[in-house]
Amino acid sequence: MTSLKKNIQTLREKKAKIEMGGGEAAIAKQEAKGKMTARQRILALMDKNSFKEYDLFVKHEVRDFGMDKKELAGDGVITGTGTIYGAPICIYAQDFTVEGGSLGLKHARKITKIMDHALKMKIPIIGINDSGGARIQEGVGALAGYGEIFYRNTIASGVIPQLSVILGPCAGGAVYSPALTDFVFVVDGISNMFITGPSVIKTVIGEEISMEDLGGARVHAEITGNAHFFARSEQECFDQIKKLITFIPWNNSTKATSVKPQKPTIKKSIEDIIPSNPKQPYDVRDVLRSIIDNSDFFEIQELFAANIVIGFGRMNGETVGFVANQPMVLAGVLDCDSSDKAARFIRYCDAFNIPIVTLEDMPGYLPGVDQEHAGVIRHGAKVLYAYSEATVPKITVILRKAYGGGYIAMNSRHLGADFVFALPSAEIAVMGPEGAANIIFRKEIMEAENPDEMRQLKVQEYIDKFANPYVAAANGFIDAVIEPKETRDLLLHTLEMSRTKDEIRPIKKHGIPPF
Ligand code: HXC
Repeated sequence: MTSLKKNIQTLREKKAKIEMGGGEAAIAKQEAKGKMTARQRILALMDKNSFKEYDLFVKHEVRDFGMDKKELAGDGVITGTGTIYGAPICIYAQDFTVEGGSLGLKHARKITKIMDHALKMKIPIIGINDSGGARIQEGVGALAGYGEIFYRNTIASGVIPQLSVILGPCAGGAVYSPALTDFVFVVDGISNMFITGPSVIKTVIGEEISMEDLGGARVHAEITGNAHFFARSEQECFDQIKKLITFIPWNNSTKATSVKPQKPTIKKSIEDIIPSNPKQPYDVRDVLRSIIDNSDFFEIQELFAANIVIGFGRMNGETVGFVANQPMVLAGVLDCDSSDKAARFIRYCDAFNIPIVTLEDMPGYLPGVDQEHAGVIRHGAKVLYAYSEATVPKITVILRKAYGGGYIAMNSRHLGADFVFALPSAEIAVMGPEGAANIIFRKEIMEAENPDEMRQLKVQEYIDKFANPYVAAANGFIDAVIEPKETRDLLLHTLEMSRTKDEIRPIKKHGIPPF
């Protein structure tokens, strides 16, 4: 055998050994938990034969606590580049079969190297997390590694899309990188995220709780809002990632790739979806599907703060971000969680050149001691900030109720909307007719022979005066009162008219949003 042939043989053997990760027993343990290996995950996600791996031979240099005897294949993480539907992607996947995917300094440096590459090339980065957190044997080296990742997550924020996939435990420092990224994906029964695990909680606080109840996929998809996409299997999760990649641009100086324009497939008209009784709820997603190309609405954070609906769809083949109050849940009010959800999405769209269409039907901010004490002032202010700050095209359609702070907050003309339209069913007022009549006509109602009759009269008086779009239209606060069937055409037209929008703001280092 020539020396080159021999060397190739040696290379193949070395690679094959490292590619086995933590070895057969550890892989069997991983598979027994219903989990793919790190390598299988990358291959399942990327276009066929597109993945190229780097830094396979990186080794840790820790000598304490028996680490001198542990080789740790690839130092527990696989990094490389590939494509998804042709889009260039940087990726890393932690390998739980290698020392629990724990993060040491070399492991972290592999991640930061691929992150630097993504930022330099201005292409998206995907991190697949499956890790016991900071490698306990390494001490401060591991903590340094996390810090270097968090720093890069922050620098890359708003420049390139950053996606985090949680496919196993994600403990301690491991949760903060995902929290700093744009979209977090979780899988039922597989994903866990927590700062301190059940055993530490038991020792320190004395409470017993399962990993699932503490920070399982559902907890983060429904309660904390840390997760943006919830799937029932790893494959479903990869399909969600692939779909998301088609909707977003590679970086903040480009636009999302456009596709062939398609008509909505849902034939139900807005007129038939919105009930004539203003107190009757409906699913605003039906309205979205009736105006979006191919009726394909890709919802984000579907299970969290369901009183607001956010997601991507296409109009005339171009990606649009949609924000819509959901009358079906809490009458579509803005509260702490829905404000956070909407504000973050608006900022995402603005950072990545995605126009925003807002559908409004809501009675205002949610009143009550719980909300006040939870900080609805601070959280609610985020929506005002995000819409006011955004310079991408911003269009609003008022479907029904637009009361009080909600009217202002949901991308009103006053916060810089480019176009505001209202259906004839719109009610634009400081508050609902009942509440308003009870306050301003209190004396007349109390002193009337029949207070209930008088209340009804006064409520009707208020409705006649304000529960319509014409006062706002007379002031030029809305640009047109339209028939429901005109909605899609008008959106297509105004989005087209806004393509070259270029809004300059005062120079500043950065604003100070109500975090
Ligand atoms: C070193 C670790 C490790 C870690 C797991 N392992 N976590 N090694 N450092 N952080 C090793 C285990 O010793 C084991 O090695 C192998 O990985 C598989 O782990 P198991 O415990 O057998 O797996 P499982 O039963 O599935 O439990 C997974 C787990 C548990 C829940 C993640 O391992 C665990 O609680 N780990 C510690 C989590 C934690 O508290 N991390 C916080 C670190 S502090 P063998 O050789 O037996 O196969 C931190 C602070 C950073 O992150 C703060 C920055 C802001």
